[in-house]
Amino acid sequence: MRKHPTMILDEVKIKCAQCHNPRLLKQKVSNEEKVGLLLGDSSTKKTFHSMLENVTMKNGINCMVCHNIDEIHLDKAKGSGGMKSVKFGPQGTMFGPQGTMFGPFADAVSPYHKTEQRSHFVGDTPTLCFVCHYSQKNDHGLEVYATGKEYDKFKVEEEGCKNCHMSERFKGVASNYAPAGGDPKERMVRKHRFASVDNSNILNDYVDVKGRSQGDKFVLTVTNHAPHKISTGYGLREIILKVTFLDKNDKELARKRYVLGKKWTDEEGKPTIPHLAKKLVKDTSMAGKSTNAYKFPIPQGAVYATYSFSYRLVSEGLAKEMGITDPFFLREYTFSEMRVHL
Ligand code: HEC
Ligand code: HEC
Ligand code: HEC
Ligand code: HEC
Repeated sequence: MRKHPTMILDEVKIKCAQCHNPRLLKQKVSNEEKVGLLLGDSSTKKTFHSMLENVTMKNGINCMVCHNIDEIHLDKAKGSGGMKSVKFGPQGTMFGPQGTMFGPFADAVSPYHKTEQRSHFVGDTPTLCFVCHYSQKNDHGLEVYATGKEYDKFKVEEEGCKNCHMSERFKGVASNYAPAGGDPKERMVRKHRFASVDNSNILNDYVDVKGRSQGDKFVLTVTNHAPHKISTGYGLREIILKVTFLDKNDKELARKRYVLGKKWTDEEGKPTIPHLAKKLVKDTSMAGKSTNAYKFPIPQGAVYATYSFSYRLVSEGLAKEMGITDPFFLREYTFSEMRVHL
């Protein structure tokens, strides 16, 4: 078989997909990067790519970048080193039949590649995810990303990341390929969906929001079941709690909001994106595994309240400041809305 040192991502995925049901992959640029690219910001590009210093990573995450990881040596004090903190398996043969795929099984046999079990694929440990999702500083030495660090601080048990971001284990097959005359082996597998607010119901599934009146206040009680902050990840996203008070004729009396998110500023104190920031000036994100009560005064004459939970990819203020006009970034995505009698 010919070697394919320049085989492009899509080809790799198709190769793998011949025997492994489509498991991934949306090719996606992070929102942060979209903003950076939108603004023609080369330092965003640089930071992003240096984190993923690997030719196979240029267009997102493909199969090899995880399944060819042999050893992980993450120095938590230094943060996620991306490709610097891993040792890959046999490199030049990645695309050939003699390449090794590391995975969760001790007894997997494939006609196409070697297989070996590695502990970072077994069970619930977050070790593999930490390679890229532990923490990262920008060029000014400011920490702009700390999902794994947050997990270390807030977790109540070693639940890892996979149950929420991939799926619980279910009965299936690791490969639809079967040796002649046989059936594919039944295995406990997971989905490869890397769920986010953009492509799943993850906020509704793991964040509870309940509203009720208490004296002259309307109280929104929010419980974050995630072991990391919300919002987490690259700090541009805002999660927005909104309350509207209505009179007996449904006329709006008042509208209040509270934002869970971060505000970053540059040298001149102007709002900017995390990668270019000198300072984190505000952090209203919620701790992992925590419950907060947010109180809003009920105006005179209010009979009903509606409350909603929504998010924005980029804060309204920052979007304005940076002159972003693309509706994709300006939209507010609502995923739960309730109405109650006060
Ligand atoms: C971000 C890292 C990551 C990427 C990218 C990735 N995987 Fe996985 N994969 C995992 C993890 C973690 C497991 C172990 C899941 C578990 O706990 O059972 C796994 C398990 C598997 C397994 C065996 C068990 C199962 O759940 O199916 C196969 C086969 C597999 N992956 C194939 C692929 C293919 C093919 C691709 C590309 C389309 C891919 N993976 C991309 C992380 C990844
Ligand atoms: C010709 C079919 C075929 C192709 C092509 C193929 N695989 Fe596999 N793969 C298998 C079979 C069969 C197994 C073993 C399944 C089992 O034992 O349940 C397997 C197992 C795996 C495992 C689990 C290893 C372990 O020890 O846990 C991973 C991960 C994996 N493959 C990834 C990939 C990736 C990534 C690609 C593309 C580069 C790929 N495979 C291409 C057939 C194939
Ligand atoms: C090799 C580096 C790498 C590893 C390992 C890795 N990720 Fe990621 N992950 C990324 C990058 C880069 C992005 C952002 C780009 C994107 O959205 O495709 C991302 C995005 C995500 C997102 C958000 C998806 C979105 O739509 O923005 C989630 C959730 C996630 N990863 C979870 C995980 C989990 C859970 C693991 C461990 C099983 C893991 N990742 C392992 C690099 C990695
Ligand atoms: C109990 C479920 C749960 C567990 C466990 C969990 N998360 Fe999350 N995660 C969430 C929820 C809910 C969100 C959405 C809130 C947000 O985007 O801030 C999220 C968001 C994220 C995002 C941002 C996605 C985006 O859209 O940009 C990343 C990255 C991420 N998690 C990584 C991890 C990693 C790494 C681990 C393990 C160390 C982990 N998560 C464990 C529930 C979970």
